[in-house]
Amino acid sequence: MCGIVGYTGPKRCVQSLLDGLGKLEYRGYDSAGIAVLDSGGIAIRKSEGKLARLVELVGREPVEGSCGVGHTRWATHGRPSDVNAHPHQSGAVAVVHNGIIENHRTLKKRLGEKGRTFCSETDTEVIAHLLDEYTSEGLSLEEAARRTMADLKGSFAFLAISGKEPGTIVGARLNCPMVVGVGEGETFLASDLPPLLWHTREALFLEDGEMVVARPDGVRLTDFAGKPRVRKPLHIDWSPVMAEKGGYRHFMLKEIHEQPRAILDTLAGRMLPESGEVFFETLPLPDERLRELKKVLIVACGTSWHAGLVGKFMIEGLSRLPVEVDLGSEYRYRNPVVTEGTLCVPISQSGETADTLAGLREARAKGAVAISICNVVSSTIARESDGVIYTHAGPEIGVASTKAFTTQLTALYLLALHLSAARGTLSGAEIAEHLLDLSDLPRKIEEVLKNEAAIAAIARKYKDARDFLYLGRGLSYPIALEGALKLKEISYIHAEGYPAGEMKHGPIALIDERMPVLVLCAKGDTYEKTFSNLEEARTRGGRVIAVGTEGDGQLAEKAEDVLYLPPCGRYALPILEVVPLQLLAYHMAVLKGTDIDQPRNLAKSVTVE
Ligand code: M6R
Repeated sequence: MCGIVGYTGPKRCVQSLLDGLGKLEYRGYDSAGIAVLDSGGIAIRKSEGKLARLVELVGREPVEGSCGVGHTRWATHGRPSDVNAHPHQSGAVAVVHNGIIENHRTLKKRLGEKGRTFCSETDTEVIAHLLDEYTSEGLSLEEAARRTMADLKGSFAFLAISGKEPGTIVGARLNCPMVVGVGEGETFLASDLPPLLWHTREALFLEDGEMVVARPDGVRLTDFAGKPRVRKPLHIDWSPVMAEKGGYRHFMLKEIHEQPRAILDTLAGRMLPESGEVFFETLPLPDERLRELKKVLIVACGTSWHAGLVGKFMIEGLSRLPVEVDLGSEYRYRNPVVTEGTLCVPISQSGETADTLAGLREARAKGAVAISICNVVSSTIARESDGVIYTHAGPEIGVASTKAFTTQLTALYLLALHLSAARGTLSGAEIAEHLLDLSDLPRKIEEVLKNEAAIAAIARKYKDARDFLYLGRGLSYPIALEGALKLKEISYIHAEGYPAGEMKHGPIALIDERMPVLVLCAKGDTYEKTFSNLEEARTRGGRVIAVGTEGDGQLAEKAEDVLYLPPCGRYALPILEVVPLQLLAYHMAVLKGTDIDQPRNLAKSVTVE
């Protein structure tokens, strides 16, 4: 997830571009840049780090012009650096891009064979080269963009300018957002509304498969084949602050709703469902090394630790490697035994959690090789690991982790499949089936998100409960832990996650008519047993809320409330199952009036032990 902006009109645009990027820093902040068309052609200023560094650079080395584009980056391909920062230029063309070009390696090879050289590690640079290639053949920037789109696979929203066509910005969208602000004799473009609302309230939202050609005298929309698309701009009456959260009341809610996209981005370019193959661009271990592995050790904290508990099921179940999962804060204090052939997998959204980092250092010092799963590119844990699998969730602002969690699970599922392929524990056809399950998840999550009103109604019903129990078995047990953690951290209601089968060994004593018991009871291999546990809770007077599979009439007879999920494969289920629990916690917290994005006593990144 990155932020892009553009301006063309009669005014000097540098300040508008920089202000616009400031409004998009929530989409990425590891580097930023602008490209402006001035009398001498394209002038670029870009810099690693937060936007303030770019502002300083522009102060030292000013540029001016009345047509330009800008970018604030959340690195996916290539670490944050001056060179990898956007815009990327080739010849007379400069480009800013949000998304992932999945076939960038193939395109780089093709362009390389024609003598083109690349200076960055990004996927985006191929767009700049393709546009330059086609405009050099005599095509206009618009025609070149159309031809370029036919070459690209993946997701993109990009803006391009050319020194040969002053005043023109060409943009296109496929699976990444782009909005056009239509002003009086001027046009603004951006990934989201906040930068535009300071200039105009008239917005055209680009749809997937649409292109925009913006000139000071107006805007033209077409589809990728060049067929005109005509529609009126919408009048937006959101305040700029509302717009920063995408119209959602809180970042947490916005991030819950971003999950389908975040999962798609985490999968992008890493799998071929047809042939059952999984790739990672940053995994330094060849298949022979993966075959020699004897054990996996996962270290993490909080929500990331819950992801690790699910990962244990995935890796053990699919690749038959034994997995140990430890809390970062405990691991190094038990003088752990690290045997030969141990793969350490630290999991961390921020990549800066002190306890997880200490666990990673301990395991590596004792001889383990480490592949981390991180969201923040070039974070300390990512840098100190031998390899890294990035979850492409984009910046997570809400303290309660949501999209980081589901993308960690997605990455773990891919890792388990990759290990299974290398170790020969699954056939290509079996892996292909798992990949289809994964590819179908974003759509299923969308379906669950549509039930938000029903989940909010359940929250209203149980809002005065003082304690909650969350029960699950197998892969759903860590999800019970995660659901309980979400509820306590943002609503401050006491909640416990328990393995459903353990109830009879003590906690069942807690159950009475004041105790809501949420049971994860979707159809699967432990369904019958979990159903019995649900009945036990109900018999003791517990108020049962069940999360089950669509069409399961039995649940409605036994539970007071049921939340249904679309049917789903075994290992994809936890990724789907957690979504209603996130929404339930969110709506309970709204009713409690707590500070949802910054709950008391908590910090987003815990960099102390
Ligand atoms: O950045 P990390 O994933 O390493 O953070 C670990 C925990 O601090 C984090 O998951 C925490 O538990 C979340 N706030 C829970 O929502």
